[in-house]
Order: sequence, then structure tokens, then C-alpha cells
Amino acid sequence: MEDSASLTAYFNNINIWNNLRDYIPHPYTAEEAENFIGVQSELFPTQNFAIVNEDQIVGGIGISLQQDIYKMNVELGYWVAETFWGTGIGTIAVGLLTQYVFENFAINRIIAEVFEHNKASMRVLEKNGFHLETVRRKGIIKNDLLIDDYVWVKQKIY
Ligand SMILES: CC(C)(COP(=O)(O)OP(=O)(O)OC[C@H]1O[C@@H](n2cnc3c(N)ncnc32)[C@H](O)[C@@H]1OP(=O)(O)O)[C@@H](O)C(=O)NCCC(=O)NCCS
Repeated sequence: MEDSASLTAYFNNINIWNNLRDYIPHPYTAEEAENFIGVQSELFPTQNFAIVNEDQIVGGIGISLQQDIYKMNVELGYWVAETFWGTGIGTIAVGLLTQYVFENFAINRIIAEVFEHNKASMRVLEKNGFHLETVRRKGIIKNDLLIDDYVWVKQKIY
């Protein structure tokens, strides 16, 4: 819980939010951070991790479990504090989380959906052995613009 201030400071950033789903609050307040940390710290196995550089939170990465007939899938989400973009943190975090997820959850597929303009995120996934499965043309509306949805996947059984 003592990390909520640094989480808020870095995550409350429109340049990050513009690449994420609308359910994520923006502006992001200390109260949202505390609620998030409270809920996540109760889950076992852990589903959302802080990305930490020395003793400071510089990002977050996690999964959301899918339900029903999709329960062998998880969806991956991540962000890095803007001042650290391009330093390799995202690539390392996705690699570690991918390994952790396959070891700790009975799932077959890790999916990441990326907005068409987000080349850095696609590169991070590509470097970690994800492949581009499909593009849902104009499948997303974000900031009132229709954009393509790039679906990247890493899986065990084909
Ligand atoms: C996507 C994000 C997590 C990447 O994290 P990062 O720590 O900056 O990523 P890395 O430094 O590990 O790698 C970035 C790669 O993208 C490349 N890249 C960056 N901008 C690029 C661009 N405009 N076009 C093509 N490649 C680009 C970098 O060159 C690097 O690849 P390389 O190692 O082959 O040179 C970070 O930009 C972020 O938090 N963005 C906002 C939130 C977000 O998009 N989350 C993911 C939603 S799907």
C-alpha cells in the first residue's frame, strides 16, 4: 500500500491511458491506486505485479483470466512509466510474466490486444515470441476514433 503514491504519480498519464482500455480510470487517483493494490494483493496466484526499479514502481503488468469456454486464455496488459520508455523494461517484464503465467495457471494462450499505432508494444511482444494472429479492422473505438485492433498471441498447444 505504501507504493500507491508512486503508482499514482506514474500511471496518471494520458500518454499511457491512450493505449489502454476505457475502464481504466483517468485521471488516476491515489484512491484508485489503493483500491487496486488492495484487491490484487488478495489474489493467489498473483495476477498483477508492480514493475520495480530499485525501490520505485516504474510500471505494472498483469493478466485477466477469461471465463467459460475461453478459460484456457488469459489477456495480458502492461505499462511502463513514460520516463523509462525505450530502456528495455517492457521487454523484460513481458518475458518474465509470460514464463510465470505458463508455470502458474492452467492455460494455453496469452493474448495481447494492441492499438494500431502502438508499435513499441507490438515490438515488445514480437521480441518475446508472440505472433500476430489477426487484425480486427476498425475493431476499437478510442478517443472517438475507430482504429484497428492487433491481436498478438503466445500459446503452448497449436
Ligand atoms: C508499450 C510499452 C510498455 C513499452 O515499454 P518499453 O519499456 O518502452 O519497451 P522496450 O524498451 O522494452 O522496447 C520497446 C521496443 O519498441 C521499439 N519502438 C519504440 N517505439 C517504436 C516505434 N514508434 N516504432 C517501432 N518500434 C518502436 C523500440 O525500439 C524497442 O525495440 P528494440 O529493442 O528492438 O529497439 C510502453 O511504451 C508503455 O507503457 N506504453 C503505454 C502503455 C501501453 O501501450 N501498454 C501496452 C498496451 S497493449
